[in-house]
Amino acid sequence: MKLSSQQKIFIEELKSFLRIPSISADPAYIDAVRKAALWTKEALENAGCQKAEIIETNGHPIVFGQVEVEEKFPTVLVYGHYDVQPPDPLDLWENPPFDPVIKTTSLHPHGALFARGACDDKGQVFMHIKAIEILLAQKTLPCNIKFMIEGEEEVGSNHLEEFVRNNKEKLASDAILISDTGMIAQDIPSITTGLRGLSYMEVSVTGTNRDLHSGLYGGAVPNPINILCEMIAKLTNEQGKITIPGFYDEVINLSKSDRQKLAQAPFDEIAFKKDIGLLKTQGEKGFSTEERRSIRPTLDVNGIWGGYTGKGAKTVIPCKAFAKISMRLVPHQKWEKISFLFESYFKQLAPESVSVSVTTHHGGMAYATPTNSTAYAAAKAAYEESFGVVPIPHRGGGSIPIVPMFEKELGIKSILMGFGLDSDAIHSPNEHFGLFNFFKGIETISFFYKHFASLKKTEKIKV
Ligand code: BES
Ligand code: MN
Ligand code: MN
Repeated sequence: MKLSSQQKIFIEELKSFLRIPSISADPAYIDAVRKAALWTKEALENAGCQKAEIIETNGHPIVFGQVEVEEKFPTVLVYGHYDVQPPDPLDLWENPPFDPVIKTTSLHPHGALFARGACDDKGQVFMHIKAIEILLAQKTLPCNIKFMIEGEEEVGSNHLEEFVRNNKEKLASDAILISDTGMIAQDIPSITTGLRGLSYMEVSVTGTNRDLHSGLYGGAVPNPINILCEMIAKLTNEQGKITIPGFYDEVINLSKSDRQKLAQAPFDEIAFKKDIGLLKTQGEKGFSTEERRSIRPTLDVNGIWGGYTGKGAKTVIPCKAFAKISMRLVPHQKWEKISFLFESYFKQLAPESVSVSVTTHHGGMAYATPTNSTAYAAAKAAYEESFGVVPIPHRGGGSIPIVPMFEKELGIKSILMGFGLDSDAIHSPNEHFGLFNFFKGIETISFFYKHFASLKKTEKIKV
C-alpha cells in the first residue's frame, strides 16, 4: 500500500492524538483527558465543522461539533470516545503505549499503528473526522452531521446519560453512526447488530480486625481469601451456568433458525485459539464459542487481591480480600436488577465468620439493531462499494452503555460500523489499528453518507 501525501499527514495527526494519555479511569490523568477533548474540538474545527464546543459535565467533558450543509439533508449523529483504558501491564508493551509506532503484523501487512486507543476508539473517531474533512473539501457531503465525542465511555458514560436526557433537541438526528466495534476479518466486513449489557460489581470479605500470624491463628479463624474463592466458585456451576437465582429470568433463548443464521458468520476457531495462546475453549454447555461470546450472559472475575503478594514468603492470614466481578448481559436483562440479585446472593453465600460488602460500579443494557432499517441498508451498500462484498450482520460481545440509552431517550437506533479486528488487542498491551482498516474506514463512512442521503430521499418521495 503506497501512501499518498495526504494519507501520511492523516497518520501524523492521529499519532499526535494518540500521544495524549487520556485515561479516564485514573484521576492522575484528568488534565490529559481534557487535553484530548481540546484536541478533538480543534480537529473538528480544522475538518470544517461550523460549530465545535467543549461541554462540561460533572465528569470529563463532552466534545460536540456540527456541520450543517443544507437544511433538507438528513442528519447523522456520530458518537465516539476520546478516552482510553489504562495501559497496564506496562512491561508487556513492546513500545510505550503513548508513543505510537507503525509496525507490520501477519494480519496487517500494510502496517498498523501501535498505541493505547489506536483502535478503541481514537483511531476510529479520527476516521470520521477525516471522512467529513474530505467530503467538505470536495463539497460532496450529502448529510448534516453532529458529532458527540465523549471522555467517559471506558468508565461507564455516567455523565453522558444526563446530557442526552437534557439535550434531546440538540442531538435530534435521523440515525446515529458509531465506529467503536470490530469486523470479522480484513476481507469479511461486518455490521455489529448487537452489544451485550454489563453489570460491574466490587466485593470485599472481612474476617478479623488485623492481619494475623498464620501459625498462631491459622486453622481457627476465617481466611477471607479462601472464603472469597469458595464464594466465587459457587457463582457458576459445572455446566457453565450462572447460579444467581433469577439471573436467567429475562433471557430469551434464540430460536433454532435464528441460531443457524448467526452461525453462518465465518469463524475460525483454530485461529481464534492461536491468536490468544489458548489450548481449549470453554464455557456454557450447549453453546458454540461464537454464541458464548455474543448471545449468552457471562460472569467473570476481573481482578482479585488481598494478603501478601510481595517478594519471598510471608506467613500471614490477611484480614480482607477483594474482587471485581463483571457480568455481561443480553437483551431484556435489566442491569440494576441483576446487580441487586448478585448482591443478595453473594451475601447469602458468606459464612457467619466474615462480613461482606458489595458495591455496584456501573452498568448498561444490551442492544440489538434491526437489519431492515434505512441506516442498515445504507451501511450495507457502503461496505459493498468499498470492500466489494456484502457485509455480514454480527452480534458483538462488548458493551457500549450509551447505545441502548440513545434508543430509550432519543428514540434513535444506532448503526455500528466498526473497523477493528479482535486481534487488535483493545484494552490489552500492544493495542493497534491497521492502516488498511483506517483508510477503508474513511472510505466506507463516506459511502455511507452517500447511500443514506439517497435512500432517505427516495423514502421522502414515496411518502
Ligand atoms: N469499544 C468498546 C466496546 C466494544 C468493542 C464492543 C468491540 C464491541 C466490540 C468499548 O470501548 C468498551 O470497551 N466498552 C466496555 C464497557 C464500559 C462500560 C467499560 C466493555 O465492553 O468492557
Ligand atoms: Mn470503545
Ligand atoms: Mn473500550
